[in-house]
Amino acid sequence: MISSPEAAKFVLVTKSHLFKPTFPASKERMLGKQAIFFSQGQYHAKLRKLVLRAFVPEAIKSFVSNIESIAKDSLQSLEGRLITTFQEMKTYTFNVALLSIFGEDEVKYREDLKRCYYILEKGYNSMPINIPGTLFNKSMKARKELAQILAKIISTRRETKQEYNDLLGSFMGDKEGLTDEQIADNIIGVIFAARDTTASVLTWIIKCLGENPSVLQAVTDEQEAIMKGKEKCGEEQTLSWADTKQMPITSRVIQETLRVASILSFTFREAVADVEYEGYLIPKGWKVLPLFRNIHHSPEIFPDPEKFDPSRFEVVPKPNTFMPFGNGTHSCPGNELAKLEIMVLLHHLTTKYRWSMVGTNSGIQYGPFALPQNGLPIRLIRKS
Ligand code: HEM
Repeated sequence: MISSPEAAKFVLVTKSHLFKPTFPASKERMLGKQAIFFSQGQYHAKLRKLVLRAFVPEAIKSFVSNIESIAKDSLQSLEGRLITTFQEMKTYTFNVALLSIFGEDEVKYREDLKRCYYILEKGYNSMPINIPGTLFNKSMKARKELAQILAKIISTRRETKQEYNDLLGSFMGDKEGLTDEQIADNIIGVIFAARDTTASVLTWIIKCLGENPSVLQAVTDEQEAIMKGKEKCGEEQTLSWADTKQMPITSRVIQETLRVASILSFTFREAVADVEYEGYLIPKGWKVLPLFRNIHHSPEIFPDPEKFDPSRFEVVPKPNTFMPFGNGTHSCPGNELAKLEIMVLLHHLTTKYRWSMVGTNSGIQYGPFALPQNGLPIRLIRKS
């Protein structure tokens, strides 16, 4: 286990070719062996180029208004109800993930994809025993059905010969071509990478804002100012990409929540050869775990680390000390989308709603991401 910024940089960046990513066997089979997480070298570089093409700011800009509709509908459906925040945020982030993958086609396939994916994910951390009745077996069947739905979508798109600026479009447009199986593995992989991570962070933000009224007020003021600015100019009451770049306080709240919660506490690598680091030998085949949470909670790097204090991000953190999206060759290509969807939801949440937390909320559970106890039950009320 490594917990210094220098050692994490060594494993994830400088000598990344000596450390391959590894996952539990069941997860590898369920996501698909050809998914980006498990790959290295040329195939990884090719996938990364295709994934990044769909998630760079230039590409996701066009989705702002669709993401906004999804956020508004989600919040409206929760009005006045006692909800489990994490569950509801998962629905929101699932719908946004599908939008980024299938563009406006998303609505057509949402229910079928949801039904299969929800069965599949139950088996992610199961024992990989493939006999009828096991969780693993049910998940593998759901995976097969999911791949069939994807094959149908791909063949419909091939017939129409239209150009699409979403992730599936990027995968299908590659000249060297990905096979249908490779596309399926990576689409399932992106849903996996995009959904629970972003939903956990949103859940933590809602908790942190609920516990820090002055910070909530500052975020609300910032978001209301954006709304009022539009009213004054007679502009449409919808968010634009430019608006999301005018939210410094909200951005710092997101950064500080990513630090405090460190939902991906660490990542797994495996040494592919004997490696020496500062006089220590890491034998070939040994697992190496860069501990993001320890770095983010080090008092030398972030003084008073347990305190939720977004103002600490008024100063840019030193290199390799803040890695909520990882570092190096496998770092998160979806980070811009994650931040965008969080901001859009926070805009509507803080300007139109208040919420109160229900029950005791001091515990943490891991599923496997760190989460407030019981997924943070809250009651959501529309402001009058
Ligand atoms: C706040 C939410 C998110 C967090 C905290 C997060 C965090 C991370 C981290 C730490 C890694 C690196 C893992 C490693 O090095 O082993 C990663 C990889 C990845 N993430 Fe994210 N992620 C988030 C949202 C997303 C979204 C929204 C997408 C897609 C739209 C996404 C797609 C991916 C993919 C495809 C990889 C693998 C990249 C590769 O292996 O080259 N993530 N993420």
